[in-house]
Amino acid sequence: MRLLICYASTEGQTRRICRFCAEQVVARGDSVEMLPVGEAGEIDLAPFDAAILAGSIHVGKLQGGLADFAATHAGALNRMPTLFLVVSLAIAGGDPGDRAELDRIAADFADKAGWTPGQVAHVAGAFRFTEYNFFEALAMRWIAHRKGQDVDPHEDTEFTDWAALAEVIREWPGE
Ligand SMILES: Cc1cc2nc3c(=O)[nH]c(=O)nc-3n(C[C@H](O)[C@H](O)[C@H](O)COP(=O)(O)O)c2cc1C
Repeated sequence: MRLLICYASTEGQTRRICRFCAEQVVARGDSVEMLPVGEAGEIDLAPFDAAILAGSIHVGKLQGGLADFAATHAGALNRMPTLFLVVSLAIAGGDPGDRAELDRIAADFADKAGWTPGQVAHVAGAFRFTEYNFFEALAMRWIAHRKGQDVDPHEDTEFTDWAALAEVIREWPGE
């Protein structure tokens, strides 16, 4: 099986997540092309058997470039098994209200693109204080404080559950 992984990553965690997914599918014998959305250009999806789209949430939205890609290729995506990986920090908290909001963000994204993902998986991201500018660091410290999360503002803190992600990939795309 030949898989496409197309992703948008602002601070790098979604890229790590996609690399992990790529390693998993290669280990089981599938071939994979992993592409940052900015380099996807006019790519033809016809040679691929399935696709993963992945993006991260910033201020309640996924990256616009990923939205453009999904809209441009909605027809092809709707004809193959697809997995939508939505990376956020809110999912790490386990709050049902946050989960409902993340589901709404993912559904709005897909609706606007005209794409119906075969499966949506929410994946916890990371605090990347080494990547943030002053204002981002301030905002993220405030968010962490509000959520009662204990983070060191001088270090990166990763919440991604790699074992759970491996399980999602192991089961996908299924029969
Ligand atoms: C400026 C900024 C805004 C963010 N806004 C949200 C948000 O609205 N909801 C959320 O759950 N996570 C939010 N996050 C957390 C990111 O989704 C998380 O750090 C993720 O790992 C980023 O993935 P990336 O490194 O691939 O860009 C925000 C992060 C930053 C830096």
